[in-house]
Amino acid sequence: MTVNDPFSSSLQLTDEGRLKHFLTLDGLDRDLLTDILDTADSFIEVGARSIKKVPLLRGRTVVNLFFEASTRTRSTFELAAKRLSADVLNLDISTSATSKGETLSDTLLNLEAMASDMFVVRHSQSGAPHFIAETVTPGVAIINAGDGRHAHPTQAMLDMLTIRQHKGSFSGLRVAVVGDILHSRVARSQIRALNTLGVEEIRVIAPATLLPNDVESLGCKVEYDMARGLRDIDVIIMLRLQRERMEGALLPSEREFYRLYGLNQDKLALANPGCIVMHPGPINRGVEIESAVADGPQSVILSQVTNGIAVRMAVMSMAMSGQVSERSRMAAEGAGV
Ligand code: CP
Repeated sequence: MTVNDPFSSSLQLTDEGRLKHFLTLDGLDRDLLTDILDTADSFIEVGARSIKKVPLLRGRTVVNLFFEASTRTRSTFELAAKRLSADVLNLDISTSATSKGETLSDTLLNLEAMASDMFVVRHSQSGAPHFIAETVTPGVAIINAGDGRHAHPTQAMLDMLTIRQHKGSFSGLRVAVVGDILHSRVARSQIRALNTLGVEEIRVIAPATLLPNDVESLGCKVEYDMARGLRDIDVIIMLRLQRERMEGALLPSEREFYRLYGLNQDKLALANPGCIVMHPGPINRGVEIESAVADGPQSVILSQVTNGIAVRMAVMSMAMSGQVSERSRMAAEGAGV
């Protein structure tokens, strides 16, 4: 099912359909998502070399702009940019002039004045990377590293790469996404990616208080009971409770949530044999997942982290290449060619 994402637009594609920004999976077709996965696959080998570098972004400057906390995303974007031979600037927002009242727009203007080629942006406001992409100098690529509840497209793509590695393809797969769907940008991007790539079924499993009103319109089925919901499932994606985005009491208690929706070995046994267990992190042991499952043989949680580097290398190199072709087109138009 196709859903209109308010932040979706042709903004992130060139006229030839190539990536120039990476803001959302909305509006990206199966061929493009598959191209990202195939490109990421080709970068996995780079991580196994003794010298983990390719020259694709040599001479380019990538700025990591994280207005929200991050361990995995920020580190893997930094490693990905370095493996592509870019110069990387990590702006520490807590000690930047933002704390003196400088606006996001002014911060960006100043960083653009340093001839930056790409901004990797995480922000608590949905749509912040989209806003930046609309206003940034042509030729500068914007990559969304997670905005509010809206989207976390590189997380979804590294999850898709991990699923493809373990399951071979997407066709026929039944995927359960469990936990706090309401506040999750990851779930929104995952559901979009899974639908585009053609899985058999997506089931969201959560209490009604942690589901968006229109959740079925995202292209998934709803199940409130975890034991019923895990039947015939090939991939389980667990999500943490995102307390930083919760307003009011949405749960009776963490203990009750764990009893009903936490993944333990008994519940995992209800899914298909060979079912893989995923989690974007950070995991909260004993809140949404038991340690024996998180660290167990069906868990691919750390493979997700490793795959984050290859996927981010793919997205950054593709967006930079799209910007270069866009610049050539504009120069040719300017010269009346
Ligand atoms: N999965 C994820 O976005 O983790 P971080 O918040 O640590 O980047």
